[in-house]
Amino acid sequence: MDVLLQIVINLVMSAMAYYGTYTVIPQVRHLFIKANLFGVDLCKQNKDIKVAESQGVIAGCVYLVVMFLFIPVPFATGGRPLGYEWLFSLEDFRHEVFAQFICALLSICCMIFLGFADDVLDLRWRTKLLLPTIATLPLLMVYGVTYNNTTIVVPKPFRAALGYSLWLGPLYYIYMGMLAVFCTNAINIVAGINGIEAGQGLVIALSIITYNVVELVASDQWQCHLFSLYFMVPFVSVTAALLYHNWYPSRVFVGDTYCYFAGMTFAVVGILGHFSKTMLLFFIPQVFNFLYSCPQLFKFVDCPRHRLPKYDPKTDTIFVSTFRLKTSETKPLGRLFIKILRILRLVQYKPIGAVNGSATADTYECSNLTIINLILVKLGPMHEKRVTCVLLALQVLCSCLGFFIRYGISKIFY
Ligand code: UD1
Ligand code: MG
Repeated sequence: MDVLLQIVINLVMSAMAYYGTYTVIPQVRHLFIKANLFGVDLCKQNKDIKVAESQGVIAGCVYLVVMFLFIPVPFATGGRPLGYEWLFSLEDFRHEVFAQFICALLSICCMIFLGFADDVLDLRWRTKLLLPTIATLPLLMVYGVTYNNTTIVVPKPFRAALGYSLWLGPLYYIYMGMLAVFCTNAINIVAGINGIEAGQGLVIALSIITYNVVELVASDQWQCHLFSLYFMVPFVSVTAALLYHNWYPSRVFVGDTYCYFAGMTFAVVGILGHFSKTMLLFFIPQVFNFLYSCPQLFKFVDCPRHRLPKYDPKTDTIFVSTFRLKTSETKPLGRLFIKILRILRLVQYKPIGAVNGSATADTYECSNLTIINLILVKLGPMHEKRVTCVLLALQVLCSCLGFFIRYGISKIFY
């Protein structure tokens, strides 16, 4: 079938995916609440309103339905006379691409299921790291049997020592496995204000689509980018519909299901589209947030269950949330991290009074180490919707920076 026709079918199916997600969410919202799958919007005055959780599962299911219906399209011969091979030509059927397609959907499907399990069971961090690794195995397997390229081009400054290219072998598979773990969790920890999870997913997906379109026209690897487009366009549709309902004031929450679904979809297209390094360039805020969060994630300092900002009902704004740091009880490495962040002016840090009123130099209040809090440290308290808009604008700017690195700076190194 003509590539242009395939793209048109993909676009039409994506429009249907948008409509499906947009209409199904309001219809099933109450079923989730009835099943106790709801949360409380912590940045609102009224804490009695139940907001349906895990609506990412609706987006994910609609996405899977559309992608399953789309499976035959890239492989159909079309235009041939009716007969034994009227739909597929067995002679030039691309088994490798077909296997990639199926395994990609299997990995995404696993991740939606595991994300939903996380929402229902509130899994521990250890499990959250293990699950995406297991869900990537079909993907790594199909990469191994169809492409298996683990050689990377060495950047110019290192070529004298390492040569033009470097074979990474199993290390490359470990990198790809870790990529899926990173993508899923990195989105999940930039969370807690209305619209931010689905918003960042949308910006990253649109950045990937822009990159794919540019490469589709300009590069000889166009088939990989077409493969990525087939996955990304329906993803943008379901995310946009989900974001519509999740935007301030949220009628639904996307849940960990969406974060895992989005992260795995990005990992799938990055790995099978052979542009995983470029894809990471669209994750600059998430990479920064992960590095910035490390002292809390790895328990060098305290990490409260929720690190999202606090709500001030008087001004209807949100402000920095904090954690307590008792210097004498904090690990030396934790103290060092916080000291560096203080020197770089990346945290709000102040001593707090002792129980009986006198000031103590030992206990401090430090802003939680997330990019959302950092925005509030730098710009002061703001309305929740505004913070989401600032963060999404930052995500767009970082994508522009990513394109500049990919098409500008990388030429110096490669
Ligand atoms: C991650 C973050 C946690 C953050 C939480 C918010 C880390 C290590 N974990 O945890 O700091 O507080 O996401 O999602 O960084 N919620 C809102 N408004 C929103 C979205 C969520 O109030 O716009 C609240 C609701 O109460 C909702 C809950 O967050 O029920 C969902 O939290 P969950 O996704 O389970 O938290 P984690 O992913 O474990
Ligand atoms: Mg979450």
